[in-house]
Amino acid sequence: MKNLRLTFAAMALGAASLVPGLAVAQTELRIGMITPPPHVWSQTAMQMAEELPDLSDGRLSLQVFPGGQLGNEAAMLQQLQTGALDMAFLTIAEISNRVPDFGAFYAPFLADDMAHAARIIRSDVARDMLEVLPEEVGVVGIGYASAGMRHLVSRSPINDASDLAGLRIRITPFEPIRDFYNALDVTATPMALPQVYEALANAQVDGIDMDAELIWAMRYFEPGPYVMESNHMLFPMVGLVSGRVWARMSEEDREVITEMMSRHLDTILDTYAERDPEWMAQTAAEEGVTHSVLDAEFFADAIEAWEEIWAPRAPMLAELRRVAEETR
Ligand code: BEZ
Repeated sequence: MKNLRLTFAAMALGAASLVPGLAVAQTELRIGMITPPPHVWSQTAMQMAEELPDLSDGRLSLQVFPGGQLGNEAAMLQQLQTGALDMAFLTIAEISNRVPDFGAFYAPFLADDMAHAARIIRSDVARDMLEVLPEEVGVVGIGYASAGMRHLVSRSPINDASDLAGLRIRITPFEPIRDFYNALDVTATPMALPQVYEALANAQVDGIDMDAELIWAMRYFEPGPYVMESNHMLFPMVGLVSGRVWARMSEEDREVITEMMSRHLDTILDTYAERDPEWMAQTAAEEGVTHSVLDAEFFADAIEAWEEIWAPRAPMLAELRRVAEETR
């Protein structure tokens, strides 16, 4: 029976390819991301999946794997390198683990807020940094977006930076953020996004480093009712295509992918610039939430310690600081 169904399906496909004007998607591409299905990145990938067959005259289709279904970001990057995965939306965090210069994006308080962060991320300086990716990582960077600014959520009240000492704070697994929290004497606890809610709810961690969208959408404020709006770091995302897959693609298909992905990445950046403050305001208005605003002064010593480590490791920092000043 199964074979019969397969035969019918194959005949239908064969027949369709003989009918002029009836498009058949021939190459199915796959895109992965760590974010859950309702997240802006995942929703955007779903929109791309809807558009791609038409944009490519039926040559390409796209299957979306949200929620870390293909593994964490390190695993997805490896799959991109081997060509086992075609495309991904990844945080720059994972890229900075391979190319330390990308750590420059995480200079604490480089941007004042998400609107300012979007101007830095859109700069030519940032764009040019993508050029090293094919050679150094084996991936093609189509462009940037973001997941908003970073904030802190904790299970207990934090009145000054010394209250953070000794706490276990969940971080995204990458070095620049680890060094920031180490400087605060925090036990920085690297953890991929899908594990975070449970870890916070079960008190495996005392707090989390997180963005406004997910604090709101995943209701992290329920187990962690102390929400500190700190805007302490940018959190850029990059839209990637596997270098191996890119090498096999026709020029025409490359153009389709580049146009489609760039357009959507740009929309994502606009979405965060507009909605980041709204998500935080909605969270702050929730019953039981204690909301506070932290500034650079709160983290002063840690910022200096971070700078000492990362200024020599990430020479692009000076350039990004110049862009930050010019776009303030
Ligand atoms: C995180 O690890 O916190 C994260 C990763 C991707 C998007 C948003 C947040």
